[in-house]
Amino acid sequence: MRVTIVYFSGTGNTAWVVRELAEQLRALGDEVTTRSCETFAPSQIDPAEWDTLGIAFPVHSSFAPPVMRDYLGQLPPGGKPLFAVTTAGYWAGDTAWYGAQPLTDAGYELFLCANVEMPNNFCIPRVDFLPVPPPERVERILELAGPRVARLAERIHRGAEHYEGTGLVGRVGGGFQRWGYAAFGSLLLARFYADESCTGCGWCVRHCPTRSWELRDGRARFRDRCIYCMRCYHFCPEEAIQAGEKTRETARYRRYGGPEGQPYAP
Ligand SMILES: Cc1cc2nc3c(=O)[nH]c(=O)nc-3n(C[C@H](O)[C@H](O)[C@H](O)COP(=O)(O)O)c2cc1C
Ligand code: SF4
Ligand code: SF4
Repeated sequence: MRVTIVYFSGTGNTAWVVRELAEQLRALGDEVTTRSCETFAPSQIDPAEWDTLGIAFPVHSSFAPPVMRDYLGQLPPGGKPLFAVTTAGYWAGDTAWYGAQPLTDAGYELFLCANVEMPNNFCIPRVDFLPVPPPERVERILELAGPRVARLAERIHRGAEHYEGTGLVGRVGGGFQRWGYAAFGSLLLARFYADESCTGCGWCVRHCPTRSWELRDGRARFRDRCIYCMRCYHFCPEEAIQAGEKTRETARYRRYGGPEGQPYAP
């Protein structure tokens, strides 16, 4: 079976899961191509190259991140089998199912939707209910995620139907979270800025998926097109990016090192 997996990853968790999934599927005899939505235009994606399409993305308050939503809306329509995998730090609800809707509306047949628990990457003032886990905890989460991905690969290989989060709790909880985020998200999320420790290295400018940073007078300036993927915040080499004064307290507002302790960029 030929499988193409299209994905978005902000801080590397989803990319890690996609890589593991691809390896597991290859071990089962499948031919697998993975495509980051940041590096391949939808027009470069040829539906003739797959028998089964997979999509993967992080849970952002029960939504797929906007870059992924836009991307999926531009993929060619099709009648082929589809699976959707999300990663989330604590609760995914019906996000995989909901996020796949642009494709199911376009005729794809969703046979599997699932979530893999990965380290939470979201903890900034006002939305700091759960911390970013320390490295030793990250290791444990990955140890559990590996076998979980292997089980999903086996189901995907067989084309076995499997739907997570589509029961009443997942649907109602997911709907409630989407409503809250759409209505109040912009009030909760503080704007980013680069503080005086910015060296003007340009990492954030090169790797922001929405081009939300530019360099001016040797310092990064924020241009508010942010989708809060958290990449720049966690991986700025100087920890210069802040979301309000409090994020200078790095013990409380820990920066995530990525699943393998390295900055992620596709
Ligand atoms: C804006 C935003 C919203 C999030 N919302 C949720 C959520 O509703 N439930 C959850 O379990 N994790 C949530 N998370 C955590 C991420 O889904 C999780 O850390 C994910 O694995 C990150 O994947 P990535 O590294 O591929 O971007 C959120 C993260 C961000 C940045
Ligand atoms: S990555 Fe950090 S140090 Fe580099 S330009 Fe951006 S804010 Fe400044
Ligand atoms: S500004 Fe930072 S958090 Fe916002 S989209 Fe760009 S990289 Fe992601």
